[in-house]
Amino acid sequence: MTDISKIISRRWSPREYDPDFSITNEQMDQLLEAARWAPSAMNAQEWWFVPGIRGDKNYKVLRRAVAGFSDWALDASGLILNIHQEYPSRHGLDFGPYDLGSAVQNMLLQAEAMGLHMRPFATFDRELVSREFQIAAPYVPFTMCTVGKAPAGLTKDRERKPMQQLLWENHQA
Ligand SMILES: Cc1cc2nc3c(=O)[nH]c(=O)nc-3n(C[C@H](O)[C@H](O)[C@H](O)COP(=O)(O)O)c2cc1C
Repeated sequence: MTDISKIISRRWSPREYDPDFSITNEQMDQLLEAARWAPSAMNAQEWWFVPGIRGDKNYKVLRRAVAGFSDWALDASGLILNIHQEYPSRHGLDFGPYDLGSAVQNMLLQAEAMGLHMRPFATFDRELVSREFQIAAPYVPFTMCTVGKAPAGLTKDRERKPMQQLLWENHQA
């Protein structure tokens, strides 16, 4: 494999978390700071987050939105709701999800650098978070992330397509 940064090659997204591990407010702030520096179309930076740490008000609501949808996430020390704004911005395209994805990826890599684990996920109660955090169109509660530590010793073999398959010329029929 061509050599790349360990922060990228080692990152992985657990579906199990140590229920006794707690992240600090400072660590959550570091993740949000990493999101802040992501690139965005026209530097619009139209992404918003609802961070929750076990025990706080946001976390209690976010946990309710996860229960019954992504129960594997219930032990995570932190939960983050990721929001973008929907509008056709340039060339008739909506760059909101792209920009939010960049911001979330910044958080995932920052977490890896800090020895933490995160997993982005799409399966949660959007009606509940929309109601509880007053999120209405054009704002979209798009994805969530867990934050925490996988149980000691848990690892995962990550699978990826070979690099040649990324090339459009090899994809065309
Ligand atoms: C937009 C998005 C939505 C996802 N939704 C879910 C989900 O609903 N449930 C889940 O378990 N994982 C979800 N994932 C996690 C992916 O399955 C995971 O990132 C992928 O399998 C690659 O694994 P890795 O992150 O460990 O490299 C989602 C990831 C992304 C980027």
